[in-house]
Amino acid sequence: MDLLRESDPLSAYYLLDSVTEEQFNPTVHLNYVPPEKKITMQDLLLNQSATATPIAGTVPFPLLSPRGVRAYRKALFQQNVIEKCASSPFPGTLVLRDAVKHSRFIRDFWTHPETMRIVSDASGVPLEVVMPTEIGHTNIQAEGATIAEMVSNLKVEPSVEKLELSPEERAYDPLKDETSIIPWHYDSYPYVCVVMLSETDGMIGGETYIKKGNGEAQKVEGPQIGHAVMLQGGEVQHLAARAKGVKERISTITSYRSKVPNVYDSSYITNIRPYADLGSLYPEWTRYRLRKLRDEITHYLDKTGDESSSFFQREELQSIITQQIEYLHRTSRQMVSPEYQQQILKKYGKAAYYDVFRIWETVQSLPEFESLASATDQERGWMPESVYWMDLQKSIETIRMKGPLESTLGTHVWSKPRKFYMGDELLRQGLNEVFLDWLGSSGLWDIYSKR
Ligand SMILES: [Fe+2]
Repeated sequence: MDLLRESDPLSAYYLLDSVTEEQFNPTVHLNYVPPEKKITMQDLLLNQSATATPIAGTVPFPLLSPRGVRAYRKALFQQNVIEKCASSPFPGTLVLRDAVKHSRFIRDFWTHPETMRIVSDASGVPLEVVMPTEIGHTNIQAEGATIAEMVSNLKVEPSVEKLELSPEERAYDPLKDETSIIPWHYDSYPYVCVVMLSETDGMIGGETYIKKGNGEAQKVEGPQIGHAVMLQGGEVQHLAARAKGVKERISTITSYRSKVPNVYDSSYITNIRPYADLGSLYPEWTRYRLRKLRDEITHYLDKTGDESSSFFQREELQSIITQQIEYLHRTSRQMVSPEYQQQILKKYGKAAYYDVFRIWETVQSLPEFESLASATDQERGWMPESVYWMDLQKSIETIRMKGPLESTLGTHVWSKPRKFYMGDELLRQGLNEVFLDWLGSSGLWDIYSKR
C-alpha cells in the first residue's frame, strides 16, 4: 500500500528481530471467506449521510489462517515490539501501538494488496489506512499486575484455558452496565477492521452492539479466532461488550478512510491524543491530511480537464473550496499543544477527558449552568486571544442560518432551546482538554466536582 511504501520510511526500524518472524505470504497466512452478511445503513434504519457509504458493517468472517494467527502473535510478542510498543492503561490490559514500525510481518499483512482488497470489498468502498500509527492497534487482556507479568503469560500458541463463571457473570447484560469500559460511542476514524487473535470458546460477551435509527440495539457477534469484522465506526454508534470467561483476549485493529474523492472523512484524533506519542502522531496526521487534500485537488483538476471554460462550475468549485477549508481547519485544530495537553490531563485526569459528554450532560442540569456559561463567554477572560472565539462565532452564525454543524458525534442541526456555548463548540471539535480548561475557568467544574 502506497501509504507506507511511498518512500518506505519504516525500513530503518526493522532490526535483527525480524529474522525471527515469518515472512507474510497471503496463500499461507490468509484464510479469507467473504462475510455471509453485510449490514447496511438502511437495515439499521439510519439515514445515509453525505459522508457515509451504504455498508455499516459485516458479520465476522474468516481472515487469518491458524498459521497466520500464530505468526501474528509471534510478531507481537517479540521482545523488541513489547519493549517499544507496550503500555498498560488499566490493570489487566495491555495496549501495543506502532508495532508496525518494528514488525515487518505486521506491516506486510495489513498493507498487502490482497488484505487491502479484502477490507475494501467487505466495506463496499476502496479503503486506505488512515496513517501508519493506526495499523494493528492491539488490545490484550491477560493475567498479571505489571506489564512484565502480563507479557510472561503470553504464548505464541493461543490459550485455551477457560475461567469458571458465576451465574451473575453468565447473565451479564452489557446494555445495562453503566461502568462498561467502552460505552456508546463513534470511532475517531471512518472504518475499522478488528481481528481476533485469541480463542473465544467459553467466552461470554465480546460482541458489538450497534444503535439503530429507532434507538434499538442490534447485536453483532464478536469474531472467533482468525476472524475479522468491519465496521463503519465513524458513522454508526456502537458499544463493545466486556468479554469474560477466558484467560486472554487479544484483538488487533486497523483504521481506514475511504479512498474515494468527495467522500467526506470524519476522522479526529481526540481519542488517541492522551496516550499517543504526539511527536510521531502529529507529523503522520498532517501527512495523511495533506495527501487527502492533494488527492481532492488532483481529482478536481483531472475531472475538469483542460482550461476550457465551458466546464467551469463556479458553485461546485466554491463548495469544494469551503469543504477543504473546513478540512484543513480541523487538521490544524486537532493538534493541541503537547505541553498544554499534559498540563490539563494532570489537572483533570484522563478519566474526565474520556467522560466529557457525561460531564457536560450533568453540568447542564446544574442551576448555575446558564449564568456561568453565559458570563464566561461574554467576558472572554478565558484565552482571550485564542482562535476558538472565532470558531464559536462561526458556529453561532451557522446555527442562526439553521445549517448543519459537523461534530465528533456526527453532523446535526442544533436543536437545543438554549444558547450555544464555548463548551459546545470545543466538544463539537473534539477538543476535550480545551473543554475541561474552559469548564474550569467558568467555575462549573468546581461546582460539578463538589456536588
Ligand atoms: Fe469503537
